[in-house]
Amino acid sequence: MEIRSLRFDGEILHVLDQRRLPFEFIDVPCKTIQDVWEAINKMKIRGAPAIGVAAAYGMYLGIKDSFDDKEVFFKELKDAKKYLDSARPTAVNLKWATSRILNKAKELKERPVNEIKKAILNEAIAMEKEDADRNYKIGEFGSALFKDGDTIMTICNTGALATVAYGTAFSVIRRSFEKYKDVKAIALETRPYLQGARLTALELKEAGIPFHLITDNMSGFIMSKGLVNGIVVGADRIASNGDTANKIGTYTLAVLAMYHKIPFYVAAPISTIDPEIESGAEIPIEERNPDEVTHCGGKRIAPEGIAVYNPAFDVTPNRLIDAIITDKGVLRKPFKESIKKILK
Ligand code: MRU
Repeated sequence: MEIRSLRFDGEILHVLDQRRLPFEFIDVPCKTIQDVWEAINKMKIRGAPAIGVAAAYGMYLGIKDSFDDKEVFFKELKDAKKYLDSARPTAVNLKWATSRILNKAKELKERPVNEIKKAILNEAIAMEKEDADRNYKIGEFGSALFKDGDTIMTICNTGALATVAYGTAFSVIRRSFEKYKDVKAIALETRPYLQGARLTALELKEAGIPFHLITDNMSGFIMSKGLVNGIVVGADRIASNGDTANKIGTYTLAVLAMYHKIPFYVAAPISTIDPEIESGAEIPIEERNPDEVTHCGGKRIAPEGIAVYNPAFDVTPNRLIDAIITDKGVLRKPFKESIKKILK
């Protein structure tokens, strides 16, 4: 079964509702920009590259019926960007995608509005295709860091569900498995949203990759037993110095990896790099509903009336990262220099 996070049919963006997986495969038709905002905000679609591409189509849906007056059109396009950017704050791919659409329109500002609309749609389609190509390359570059017999640990979901195809960290695992055959994975369940248990376990199973699912708090013990050869995680935003925001729990894994001398890799397309920020301290971290912590599988597990923290992401400092695997190659320290060079 091919797992697809999104599909545009020429008029409607179809999103697979990831909140219902792995039990139900429900199509969410997004006909308006509001539908796309809602799908991203409510995590029907999630994962940095996937929400970037969804937002690109959202930009098109936002202006496709706009009038021919150019001033009104550009105002509506800028409003659409602002609106979509507000859906989730941490993954930079969202802003990267909406900026790219806006810039494309600006390039063509002398052309008739209808032509600009067509170009916007084509740009979104191109971004969808590019994402798949990029992720394939990430798998190719990243798999060179592993060998036959390796067990690779990962957190959250970074597979086809989090992207257009292949995934990022997941692409590295998949390609390593294809190349070396005897490659296994360890997937962390990823509390509180359970992207590991619900989504990565589904994708690993579908791909036929042997794996064990563990709860997050088992990771240190499993590492101490010598059962992990490398860790590869995705990213929602990488600062110019290599500090990386990713799913909550990633930082803990990186600290444990350093203690146990296990290589720790981040895998992401270069669209996840935010050249406008110097370090991870500037990355906005999304705080989600406390219910995600007080409840599990829809059932309350904690007493009423208690205080809860629920940051959805954390920041891993660059010194804990051995390499950043991108679609342009593997970046090594000092990341400030290697990132600068790759973005040129
Ligand atoms: O909150 P989510 O599920 O959108 O978080 C996803 C992650 O943290 C992923 O690791 C990241 O977006 C990279 S996905 C290829």
